[in-house]
Amino acid sequence: MAIVSHPSVTICDHPLVQHHLSILRDKNTSNELFRSAMARIGRVLMEEATRQLPLARVLVETPVSKAECKRLDPSVPIIISPILRAGLMLSDIALDVLPTASVYHIGLYRDEETLKPVTYYNKLPANIDYSVARIFVLDPMLATGGSAVAAIDIIKKLGVQPENLYFICTIAAPEGVSKLVEAHPGVRIYAGAVDECLNDKAYIVPGLGDAGDRTFGTV
Ligand code: PRP
Ligand code: URA
Repeated sequence: MAIVSHPSVTICDHPLVQHHLSILRDKNTSNELFRSAMARIGRVLMEEATRQLPLARVLVETPVSKAECKRLDPSVPIIISPILRAGLMLSDIALDVLPTASVYHIGLYRDEETLKPVTYYNKLPANIDYSVARIFVLDPMLATGGSAVAAIDIIKKLGVQPENLYFICTIAAPEGVSKLVEAHPGVRIYAGAVDECLNDKAYIVPGLGDAGDRTFGTV
């Protein structure tokens, strides 16, 4: 398996990620099991990616005494942005990890002829302090990188700092990682695996096939 070594890229090779990846990759896995394995990997990726979230001090009263504690800084907006369609499968688990986050979907698909991303939905609002916001962009597949770069183009135009942007993907191709790192230096990429290459249809090899179709049973 190719390993992409770059300071912006974290490959989460936790044993549970590897276990669930074997289920996702198996072409005989049912749609139901595919969805649950995807979500389980998403939890590990999200828990790793949220390590650097800023905390604020808070004094709480325990049943016994007072305790100096830390909580997620309430002045820092946290946004989860699943890329439709397949990103939806990571969305519930991301919200479970970050229950105070807001979810704003981005609609993008890859034109299978041109391989260029087509944007069809974007409702990120203007009334958020994007200069401090943390945004977790979810998409199981980073293939050519066209969709990821287009999604982050949209988000960066709002004023989000690249180092506050997290791209969470289950499987990446080296080509997609390189494209994203070059187009958006500083964005942090969390992947369950970086595979070997793309095939002549720009599918990840060995990959798992079409993530959207296998998630929603539309093969
Ligand atoms: C898949 C995947 C990514 C994109 C990756 O979506 O979920 O969004 O392909 O490919 P890229 O890195 O080459 O852009 P798809 O375009 O199939 O849309 P769908 O989930 O709506 O079917
Ligand atoms: N989109 C997918 O769903 N799978 C791939 O391998 C590449 C793009």
